[in-house]
Amino acid sequence: MAMMAVSSGMALKSSVCVGKSDFMGKTALRQSAAPSSSKTNVSFTIKAAGYDDELVKTAKSIASPGRGILAMDESNATCGLRLASIGLENTEANRQAYRQLLVQTPGLGEYISGAILFEETLYQSTTDGKKMVDVLVDQKIVPGIKVDKGLVPLAGSNNESWCQGLDGLSSRTAAYYKQGARFAKWRTVISIPNGPSELAVQEAAWGLARYAAISQDSGLVPIVEPEILLDGEHGIDRTLEIASKVWAATFHYLAQNNVLFEGILLKPSMVTPGAGCKERATPEEVAKYTLNLLRRRVPPAVPGIMFLSGGQSEVEATLNLNAMNQSPNPWHVSFSYARALQNSVLKTWKGQPENVEAAQKALLIRAKANSLAQLGKYSAEGEAEEAKKGMFVEGYTY
Ligand code: 13P
Repeated sequence: MAMMAVSSGMALKSSVCVGKSDFMGKTALRQSAAPSSSKTNVSFTIKAAGYDDELVKTAKSIASPGRGILAMDESNATCGLRLASIGLENTEANRQAYRQLLVQTPGLGEYISGAILFEETLYQSTTDGKKMVDVLVDQKIVPGIKVDKGLVPLAGSNNESWCQGLDGLSSRTAAYYKQGARFAKWRTVISIPNGPSELAVQEAAWGLARYAAISQDSGLVPIVEPEILLDGEHGIDRTLEIASKVWAATFHYLAQNNVLFEGILLKPSMVTPGAGCKERATPEEVAKYTLNLLRRRVPPAVPGIMFLSGGQSEVEATLNLNAMNQSPNPWHVSFSYARALQNSVLKTWKGQPENVEAAQKALLIRAKANSLAQLGKYSAEGEAEEAKKGMFVEGYTY
């Protein structure tokens, strides 16, 4: 934020342009607490509030009690892997059938407040010609869109990666808003065993902040997602140390880019031991570490923390979320799971039309379990064995 100190009680009213015409450089004044004889007015530039009210409203409605996000934004390549796991070909028709099954699940809006879509789905209709976006809106689910362009090797780093997608982003976010999206997602990753290098952390944080500012400028609530990968044999303390660094850098750059904190959502990884660590953590330990991290790093202005599942089993992800909601938090603490909501659904569906209803029931079971966990009222009693199987994949891409 550009700051200007103005002495002798004179307020400098000039507007400061920050690159674009829609950054109006409105000047606000603040009276200092100094005695009137040496009165000093401090003037600082703030961002024009084009979409601010709407952003705050959208973020609040996604972060509403007992609800969370269904992440169904697998790229076509990743969706292909999911389909292959049940013996289906990666065709547009099969992707449409699967995504249609998800969004048409009766009653889904009771537990799901937002759905992250891949670009193909944002512009796709169901087989009866209704836009997927409209199906979601009718369910009172806010449509969102994955806007990053995926990970590529970060030159000069220790075999780490960075996330592409800033070039041309503002025209894409404007078009996505027009198409009905109201929030966005950008997933970048940090690998603990590969370093992480200062370079990778800075790059991840800066990219997230630029993306967040651009999304807000187009009326989309940005989900800020620096995923700390589960890969590695490190213990939970090392994860906490790295996550603290990553979130410090991320908030530093979010502030520097004038991002409105009331109009963002966070998508962190839970603080857990690495997938290869022999010492496992209980849900209570995960909750304690994760909430400590959040309290130290995340301002209460942020309305919602929507966790990713990152390869945990469906039940593990739900138990951990439940443990985090045993006492009140300054933010809505909820879920934005892909694998931990979809695994049983896919296995039940198997690509067979006669299984659609059962698969939708499986989705509702997971959505309801996580809704209860958001309220701190979940119990794993009676959960199926399948839901307890971990889904960790080394070096997972989305
Ligand atoms: P998982 O819950 O499968 O880790 O997905 C995270 C994600 O970023 C999806 O949008």
